[in-house]
Amino acid sequence: MTSENLAAIFPGGGKVLEVTSCPVNHPAKGEVLIRNYAVAVQPLDAKMLLTGYGGAVSLNYPAILGTSGAGIVEELGEDVSLLRIGDRVVFDTQAYVKGGDANRREGTWQQLVICGAETVAKIGGLEFEQAVLIDFPLQTAVVALHLFLGMGKPGTGNSKEKVLIWGAGGAVGSYAVQYAKSVGYELVVTASAKDVDRQKRLGASEVVDYKAPDVVDRLRLLGPYKYLFTASGDLTSQKTLVSLLGSEGGRFASVLGGDVKLPSNVERVYLPFSQALQKDQYSGLRSWWYGDYLPKVLQERLVEAVKFTKREGGLPALQQASADVFEGKIRGKLVLNPQE
Ligand SMILES: NC(=O)c1ccc[n+]([C@@H]2O[C@H](COP(=O)([O-])OP(=O)(O)OC[C@H]3O[C@@H](n4cnc5c(N)ncnc54)[C@H](OP(=O)(O)O)[C@@H]3O)[C@@H](O)[C@H]2O)c1
Repeated sequence: MTSENLAAIFPGGGKVLEVTSCPVNHPAKGEVLIRNYAVAVQPLDAKMLLTGYGGAVSLNYPAILGTSGAGIVEELGEDVSLLRIGDRVVFDTQAYVKGGDANRREGTWQQLVICGAETVAKIGGLEFEQAVLIDFPLQTAVVALHLFLGMGKPGTGNSKEKVLIWGAGGAVGSYAVQYAKSVGYELVVTASAKDVDRQKRLGASEVVDYKAPDVVDRLRLLGPYKYLFTASGDLTSQKTLVSLLGSEGGRFASVLGGDVKLPSNVERVYLPFSQALQKDQYSGLRSWWYGDYLPKVLQERLVEAVKFTKREGGLPALQQASADVFEGKIRGKLVLNPQE
């Protein structure tokens, strides 16, 4: 029986992580206990730790951050029929949806994580690092494009219609490109000049440098666009998408909010996309994601993962890793192993 669980406890806004031994929870009905071998530090986690940013919820402190991880199933609760002890999985918890129950903290910045079985996907022989690199940001992209903008599922698109992904260089952007391509659209993206070859490999037909002075004109000439998504979410990108929608208006999705003047005929879709599948109102899409689409993508290696750097040092290294992500020092993702 599992007896020790080290966790990175976040005492609250402005305070640093404390790595300490925590109680081992055992799975209730419909839950599993997973030994967690990989976490990727997401910008959301870093912002929550370093700025007190609440994300989807106001956390109840002390809290355990991180909603996504990859590891091996160690215990099964009642009524879990599709998973077995020993399964290799990637998973997402309700840590940011529930706000953190002090007795059963579900964040993934710990060694042993309780997770609802419906948000666990099997990864077959894929490395844990590769699985965590893909799940959270790909899910963000698919939820934004499919659930909230109405783009179809793979194979249902029209190759004569165009999709614009702004900020395709990041993880969410890179996966948004690959998803939209798999649906069947032509892709126009903005990325930095050094990223052109990779963007073309991922599926972009046109890559425009988002720092070029004529970026708006070039994107206008390449349009019109059926779907528009800013995966960097910065205000410049949002203003550009508003301008591209022009007098006809329309809508675009953004990973971030912020104060942008929107004409009455333009809608900005900005939500905590990464947490949507934790909600029962989206249980249909959740079943497709964890039971069908994500395992297929991971096991058949259907998407190219973003680059990552392995940060040694386990949970105690999360504080500095988060600062590095927050300060924009990291290209790709930083991955840590909570068992070290
Ligand atoms: N709403 C949600 O549910 C949700 C979910 C996940 C993430 N997010 C947010 O989405 C953002 C991206 O997340 P991520 O995981 O993709 O981050 P990431 O992988 O760290 O992406 C960072 C990369 O994006 C590119 N970039 C940065 N600023 C840019 C700008 N102003 N314009 C265009 N490209 C820019 C840069 O690549 P190049 O230098 O190569 O251009 C940078 O290296 C974060 O702010 C995150 O908090 C929101």
